[in-house]
Amino acid sequence: MAATGNTKQATLKIDDKSVELPIYSGSVGPDVIDISKLYGQTGMFTYDPGFTSTASCESKITYIDGDAGVLLYRGYPIEQLAQGDFLETCYLLLYGELPTATQKKDFDDRITKHTMVHEQMARFFQGFRRDAHPMAVMVASVGALAAFYHDSTDISDPKQRMIASMRMIAKVPTLAAMAYKYSIGQPFVYPKNSLDYASNFLRMCFAVPCEEYEVNPVLAKALDRIFILHADHEQNASTSTVRGAGSSGANPFACIAAGIACLWGPAHGGANEAALQMLAEIGTVDRIPEFIKAVKDKSSKIRLMGFGHRVYKNYDPRAKLMQQTCHEVLAATGHQNDPLLKVAVELEKIALSDEYFISRKLYPNVDFYSGITLKAIGFPTSMFTVLFAVARTVGWISQWSEMIQEPNYKISRPRQLYLGSEKRDYIPVDKRG
Ligand code: CMC
Repeated sequence: MAATGNTKQATLKIDDKSVELPIYSGSVGPDVIDISKLYGQTGMFTYDPGFTSTASCESKITYIDGDAGVLLYRGYPIEQLAQGDFLETCYLLLYGELPTATQKKDFDDRITKHTMVHEQMARFFQGFRRDAHPMAVMVASVGALAAFYHDSTDISDPKQRMIASMRMIAKVPTLAAMAYKYSIGQPFVYPKNSLDYASNFLRMCFAVPCEEYEVNPVLAKALDRIFILHADHEQNASTSTVRGAGSSGANPFACIAAGIACLWGPAHGGANEAALQMLAEIGTVDRIPEFIKAVKDKSSKIRLMGFGHRVYKNYDPRAKLMQQTCHEVLAATGHQNDPLLKVAVELEKIALSDEYFISRKLYPNVDFYSGITLKAIGFPTSMFTVLFAVARTVGWISQWSEMIQEPNYKISRPRQLYLGSEKRDYIPVDKRG
């Protein structure tokens, strides 16, 4: 445990026995009570389904203050990092510090030189049904990278870990674009190394061999910012999955595939699709009051998608930047009069002044405006979570790497509250009644 200064102790009383538990302070944020020796001292486990009160690791990467609406990567506020570019954020997450101009150029070059995937991967894709969901293709194809880089990835070697990390950041967009192209029956577009990360991704997704493709710089900038906003988010479900998979010493490409699988669920990466669908269902501004009424009626089970967050009990700082990005993209694509934008703006205004949402501290989250934005850039809804995976790859791999570097990291192995049968005897099938 690197967190020091543990002069504070918690006392846990169980019947007439007292147990002293050390309390550690992080650099910012709540203190934690160390219960790692609790079972040895008391024969009891703690119970915390969904880990709502449990710190699963120590980390120096991302900090969220949900009450204040603050998100920091390596100490830097997301609003400030959004002024730079995504690869700068990648460098920061991986190495812990912002790069100098020379380091940045070298990093950009190295990522760019890893963007191609093995040509055999194209043949691997032919095995998918043409209507396969791009997320299913992502889980499989990123996992398949493990087959290409298994023997060359000794995770105990920091140099090889960094090469694997770079490969992942470089190749996941290529696979994501291939998954999209495959789903619409168009030929794969090879990466173009003269383009920046987001421009290259847009080109791989939207160019066709029979026409010239010019990247719209406003859309490239917007996508780059969307990647920054999604790059890491502390110990969320998919990141915890990557750490859990990696804790057994598994191949890092396979661990990232596990993270992608977890991200796929609608409670995690799939919410922006649901938010967009909700805006389309509301359709016009005059129908908002009726919708808000339905949301407040608990029996309807309708939620205002893109609102509320497990950690943020204030305006999600990513949502503010996403709102600004949304306006820029809609202006650049001539969609500023998109009826969905009108509905979103009015819905947000009404919800933010409504007692139901105020008293429950429900504010817009990053997904409220991201669906409209991604749609205006040209992505179908099936690609929304894929884009999230492209951005989050750097967060996953940075967290994985941080874990592997810990001298005493342990395999992830939670315990349980067992409610099944007590020991009983097996009866052969012919003797069962
Ligand atoms: N619309 C209406 N009511 C809501 C909403 C919402 N979006 N979110 C929470 N509530 C109410 C909920 O009914 C409950 O009310 P009451 O106390 O009267 O029973 C109260 O607020 C607390 O809700 P909760 O479900 O206990 O809160 P949670 O922290 O477990 O849920 C959440 C967080 C994100 C699952 C939830 O807010 C939600 O379902 N939001 C909509 C889906 C969404 O936008 N998800 C994207 C999250 S951001 C992406 C990411 O970071 O991965």
